[in-house]
Amino acid sequence: MSIQKFTEVIPKAELHVHIEGTFEPELMFEIASRNNISLQYNSVEDLKNAYNFTNLQSFLDIYYSGAKVLINEQDFYDLTLAYLEKAHSQNVLHTEIMFDPQTHTNRGVEFKTVISGITNAMKDAKSKLGITSNLIMCFLRHLSEADAIKTLKTALDYKDLIVAVGLDSSEKGHPPSKFKRVFEMALKEGFKTVAHAGEEGPAEYVWEALDLLKVSRIDHGNNSLDDDNLIQKLISHQIPLTVCPLSNLKLKVVTDLKMHPLKKMLDAGLLATVNSDDPAYFGGYVNENFLAVAEALKLTKGEIFILAVNSFKASFLDESSKQEMIEKVGKFFETVN
Ligand code: ADE
Ligand code: ZN
Repeated sequence: MSIQKFTEVIPKAELHVHIEGTFEPELMFEIASRNNISLQYNSVEDLKNAYNFTNLQSFLDIYYSGAKVLINEQDFYDLTLAYLEKAHSQNVLHTEIMFDPQTHTNRGVEFKTVISGITNAMKDAKSKLGITSNLIMCFLRHLSEADAIKTLKTALDYKDLIVAVGLDSSEKGHPPSKFKRVFEMALKEGFKTVAHAGEEGPAEYVWEALDLLKVSRIDHGNNSLDDDNLIQKLISHQIPLTVCPLSNLKLKVVTDLKMHPLKKMLDAGLLATVNSDDPAYFGGYVNENFLAVAEALKLTKGEIFILAVNSFKASFLDESSKQEMIEKVGKFFETVN
């Protein structure tokens, strides 16, 4: 079996994907039209041409503007189901989806509308396709901690639907320490915690995410490699990094995938995983990320296998489901090798 086919069919989990980042231009135009909203762009092609990012902020500006057409529960349902169908087609058995409620509630869309649309699609995808999923609620770090606390309080009515809270948006100048109290509150309520750190920000932000926000995993974490003590801590505690190669390339976190730190991470014994982040904006879903990085870094089938196992190990699945899925990956590896 070619390494390409092997990569495409190996069972895997995705742990870092923003549902608003799966908004394909075609669906965006369709939903804009049914909601009588006019987009700034005349066509799908025009919109795609705007996807030319220089850094994280230049992407976020377009990403938040695209999300404005999402108004009704059906919109969130359609968005989520489309992603889950795509993930299923790429042999993703389990996915942990992030959503940004403040992007919607701050323009008058009810929290309930957002979460009902997303979670109904998650339920339907499980029964129709067998794909399982968890939901992670992210706070926007460019907004205040008070706004995050307000969001957490609203979310308490939907506690059973959310596995973890996270932190995303503009990293530089918005360190994890800004959100210490809201994460403490979330932990007390029984949520797990994750945070974007070390994407554009320094290794110091990764330390803060670990020490102050008590995160179970780090989203991105690339700049952790600048700090030997941090690397040792991440290895010894097997704290997962949810790495997103095509995102890193498109947002100029790396200039060339050949320079991507993923292989260094694996060689060092870090628990790294491969994910798509915002696939509609960065040129590919999880398999395209695997394929691009496998080619650039000349990864072996053995390394792809480790990444697939890591994706389940690092997930928020219960231990028995984790073992069951890891066995599936193992069986797959045995039969094709
Ligand atoms: N929100 C969506 N994608 C993001 C990323 N790559 N970094 C920070 N916030 C995000
Ligand atoms: Zn992200």
